[in-house]
Amino acid sequence: MNAPIVSFNQVGKSFEVDGLELEAIRDFNLHITEGEFVAIVGSSGCGKSTLLRLLVGLDTEFRGAIEVDGKAVKGVGSECGIVFQEHRLFPWLSVADNIGLGLVNAVLSPAQRQERVAAFIELVGLNDFARAFPHQLSGGMAQRVAIARGLVASPRILLLDEPFGALDALTRQQMQDELLAIRARSKITTVLVTHDVEEAIFLADRVVVLEPRPGQIKQVVNIDLPHPRQRSSFEFHQLREELLHELTNDGHYQPVAPVQVRDVPLAFIAV
Ligand SMILES: Nc1ncnc2c1ncn2[C@@H]1O[C@H](COP(=O)(O)OP(=O)(O)O)[C@@H](O)[C@H]1O
Ligand SMILES: [Mg+2]
Repeated sequence: MNAPIVSFNQVGKSFEVDGLELEAIRDFNLHITEGEFVAIVGSSGCGKSTLLRLLVGLDTEFRGAIEVDGKAVKGVGSECGIVFQEHRLFPWLSVADNIGLGLVNAVLSPAQRQERVAAFIELVGLNDFARAFPHQLSGGMAQRVAIARGLVASPRILLLDEPFGALDALTRQQMQDELLAIRARSKITTVLVTHDVEEAIFLADRVVVLEPRPGQIKQVVNIDLPHPRQRSSFEFHQLREELLHELTNDGHYQPVAPVQVRDVPLAFIAV
């Protein structure tokens, strides 16, 4: 097997809350190969966002080791592009300029920059909206801009933190199809965090089920179904039942997780 592009080895993370230690992640081990699509599912508060923040280098205090391409993660680099649940677009910037923020650290001439932004606007199908402002976009379109911003600097890994959680069911399904289409073109290693079991089965090669308090791996399931996957198929239904059973028998699972908004400085959003 090829060397993994991402590896978590015995990762643990605690927070101090009101002078008490809160263990958020315990003994987390995961190895992701290049091009793989891994989904991490779990109830609200079980440590999904924390895992992504550690991987992207936003938080460097943890136990164990996290490596990207064999190198320890020491801070925010350009390997990972990240997309959050709420799109975090800047209302006073156009679609093109919001996507361009993903290139703040890139060494490019203005013409190269413009060309790259245009290519990613095309990738997410927003050619007619390059000059539009966020308030003129639907939720799905805004999230497509956020995905383009996450991809524009050509990261090796795309991290998605409940990216479609705030969308209506129909738009969410369309976005899932589009994400697969984008991946078919860019073959990027992808880590998706979601509390939606169906979304995980529809999209991922492998689903990691987390259990809460402290967040740790309960089960890892390979999804061998060919694409496009049929939500109504027997195999899909069986996998959904199996994973829902794993998630619900710990008594913590809530089908709809509350939106969590945590402020992240601009430079971090744009990595
Ligand atoms: N900065 C922080 N300070 C204190 N506790 C935190 C912080 N970030 C996350 N937590 C706690 O860690 C646990 C996991 O949180 P999180 O990773 O956001 O879960 P999820 O994304 O699965 O909903 C929760 O109990 C949460 O309250
Ligand atoms: Mg979260």
